[in-house]
Amino acid sequence: MNRKAVLITRGILPEVVEALSKRFAVEHNAEDRPWAPEELAQHLRGKHGAMATVMDRFDEALLAQCPDLKVISNIAVGYNNIDVPAATRRGIRVTNTPGVLDDTTADLTWSLLMAAARRIAEADAYVRRGDWKIAFGVQYFLGQDIHHATLGIIGMGRIGQAVARRASGFDMRVLYNNRTRLAEADEKRLNARYADRDRLLAESDFVVVMAPYSPATHHLIGAAEIAKMKPTAILVNSARGGVVDDAALVDALRAKRIAGAGLDVFEGEPKVNPGYLDLRNVVMTPHIGSASRATRIVMCNTAAANMTAVLEGRDPPNPVN
Ligand code: GLV
Repeated sequence: MNRKAVLITRGILPEVVEALSKRFAVEHNAEDRPWAPEELAQHLRGKHGAMATVMDRFDEALLAQCPDLKVISNIAVGYNNIDVPAATRRGIRVTNTPGVLDDTTADLTWSLLMAAARRIAEADAYVRRGDWKIAFGVQYFLGQDIHHATLGIIGMGRIGQAVARRASGFDMRVLYNNRTRLAEADEKRLNARYADRDRLLAESDFVVVMAPYSPATHHLIGAAEIAKMKPTAILVNSARGGVVDDAALVDALRAKRIAGAGLDVFEGEPKVNPGYLDLRNVVMTPHIGSASRATRIVMCNTAAANMTAVLEGRDPPNPVN
């Protein structure tokens, strides 16, 4: 029997490739160089399944070139890289990896929050440069307190809730805003209070954006929203580039309209708005929210299980459509 053909669009863990190779004819981009759309289309020719990342854009034009494709299995919880209605029209299943990366992404979100609040990257650079000449200074690197502060979370899905849970150790007051309000029992469990967006922006010391990207959340945080924040507040985005208007945030950070920002995602990644680069009050990481070794193994295995299920005629554990 002819084995089904699958494409793994980026370099992933060899043990997952090996396991998939027992069932399928696997082409693996072990070199890990992101492919341009035309290259991706070329590699997808004759493939029944694709295991992909958020960098691979599956739009109508690409899907039209993939008549054999049955499943796109994203190695990610987000799937804004895929035109899901177009895939559905063509009978292509789309799957993702929800749940398995919540805690790891919440940990990174907190790392950014704490690094921005206590100016960790700036202080680290200061020590490395050899600028630390006097052992202790009462006014050295004064930052923001995290404990007993107000945390505002915009987007209270699984990851937003994992961010909220971590706040209890810091005795924080937690506000959240979400498309739909949580059940009362969940609000109690998370010790989080619903607030409309304006109130959340005005009262929070830390505003964490955890909303997925869609046309509806494009520039959800722009100049008008930043203007509502406290001058001492810190904005954290580890959700998706484009949910925050980078140009507006650069302006606000430059003018010190807010105290700082922690960013893991950017509009047009891997390009970063050059305005951020000479600002000290922003700490940045290169889209590594879920990047712990253990979590990436589980994400790859989850994506492999989703793709395998569809290609073997079963319902995938994590369907998007
Ligand atoms: C990564 O960005 C993801 O959506 O999992």
